[in-house]
Amino acid sequence: MDYLPIFLDVAGRKIVVDGGGTVAARRVERALGAGALVEVFDPAPGEEMTRLFGHERLTHHARVPAEADFADCLVAYGASEDPARDAPLYKWAKAHNALANVADEKDYCDFITPSVVERDPLTIAISTGGAAPVIARILRARVEAMLPAAYGRLAQFLSTYRDRIADQIKGGTARRRFWENMIEGPAGDAFLAGDEALAERLIEEDLGAGGSKKLHRGEVWLVGAGPGDPDLLTFKALRMMQHADVVLYDRLIGDGLLDLVRRDAERINVGKTAGDHVMLQEDITALMIKLAREGKRVLRLKGGDPFIFGRGGEELEEVAAQGFPVVVVPGITAAAGCGASAGIPLTHRDHAQSVVFVTAHGKDGLLPHDWTALAREGQTVVVYMGLRFVAEIAEAAMAQGVSPDMPVALVDNGTRTTQKVVTGTLADIGAKVAAARPKGPALILIGSVVSLREVLAQDGAAPKEAFEMTLAAREGL
Ligand SMILES: C[S@@+](CC[C@H](N)C(=O)[O-])C[C@H]1O[C@@H](n2cnc3c(N)ncnc32)[C@H](O)[C@@H]1O
Repeated sequence: MDYLPIFLDVAGRKIVVDGGGTVAARRVERALGAGALVEVFDPAPGEEMTRLFGHERLTHHARVPAEADFADCLVAYGASEDPARDAPLYKWAKAHNALANVADEKDYCDFITPSVVERDPLTIAISTGGAAPVIARILRARVEAMLPAAYGRLAQFLSTYRDRIADQIKGGTARRRFWENMIEGPAGDAFLAGDEALAERLIEEDLGAGGSKKLHRGEVWLVGAGPGDPDLLTFKALRMMQHADVVLYDRLIGDGLLDLVRRDAERINVGKTAGDHVMLQEDITALMIKLAREGKRVLRLKGGDPFIFGRGGEELEEVAAQGFPVVVVPGITAAAGCGASAGIPLTHRDHAQSVVFVTAHGKDGLLPHDWTALAREGQTVVVYMGLRFVAEIAEAAMAQGVSPDMPVALVDNGTRTTQKVVTGTLADIGAKVAAARPKGPALILIGSVVSLREVLAQDGAAPKEAFEMTLAAREGL
């Protein structure tokens, strides 16, 4: 982080804005909005600026500024878009200990202006430290879209309870939990839906005698994190990651995902690699129960979907039996993620009308699957946990009579920046995978849908024109 994010109290303080165009007008609006006394300098201000001139805290000087104008100034904006005015402005601002910001002149800036989302009194400022302001603007648009306009009023409404909550609910964690429950729970929902009376009643109930006891009850959330690309998280998963007290994660959690967990949440790696158990399954379950007993919100973060080869059911059985509330949040399973990112649809009108997910091995090693039934015409087979057995699986399938020409793909680290895809047939996939030395996790896809990768892949494996030509041919054009 190259800049210190702060919000400056400018109420009643002098801010100088040099310029009369659009850039200057935006600075003036913001400064007035924060209660500053604004002095605008420009001999010929534009229309946007003159529209602001009636404001009681704004003074216009129809000239360029001089050094004396910076006396007692807290912030000086150079927004004239005239380089000849920028250097003196910066020099005079510094001479009077004012903070300076000259638009598009990094050398003349003590601070940068962030992209701002306002839900007064709630203000969200976004900055890329000057590296890519367009990203900040795009993010701002996204935040604008996802933040209900009433959030500002909600903040105002809740602020009236601040003293009582501080009085009645002791301890930082319990208080934070109470606030979160108010904002994200039924009271917040009622307020945002326009029912202020109900919101008040719910808060009073919670503040009432014994209401805070509920806050110490532990919970366990089993959350699917998807196959690795953080953009494939669900909104719900993200929300819970930002509310958990402790997160238990394993090695399938892709890079960048843990950064999205609440900053002060405890993180525990319970990751398992084949043959190298960092923590036994029963120990993980026992730990979740212990943490829930301590009143914590325990988030068990799992790769993909927790209920697809994730042992989620086993982990929760015991927790639920102990009487703790349990929530399961689905995630995008590796098959869906890898299919999409490798350009291999799992079903297709012309290729596969069904898809089956199987695991290559069970408790006692490679499973003796019936490959003629699985890899039959019109069906796609997705094999989880098969990386170490690619050659054996191909041999077994061919030995049972599946055609050696059956297309096969191995997707290694699917959806991640390190994704590798190896394609071939049952006859040659073993040798190709051995040569490619994938690191895992990896998924095996078997079926004629694999051949579509040639036209659908957008990762450099096939030109887009080929896809368009195929579509045109199918439409008979
Ligand atoms: C224990 S299973 C967990 C599956 C997970 N619950 C899901 O729904 O994707 C682990 C296997 O999932 C597959 N897998 C998970 N993430 C993957 C990824 N990013 N790319 C390829 N395969 C992946 C691999 O076959 C790996 O051995």
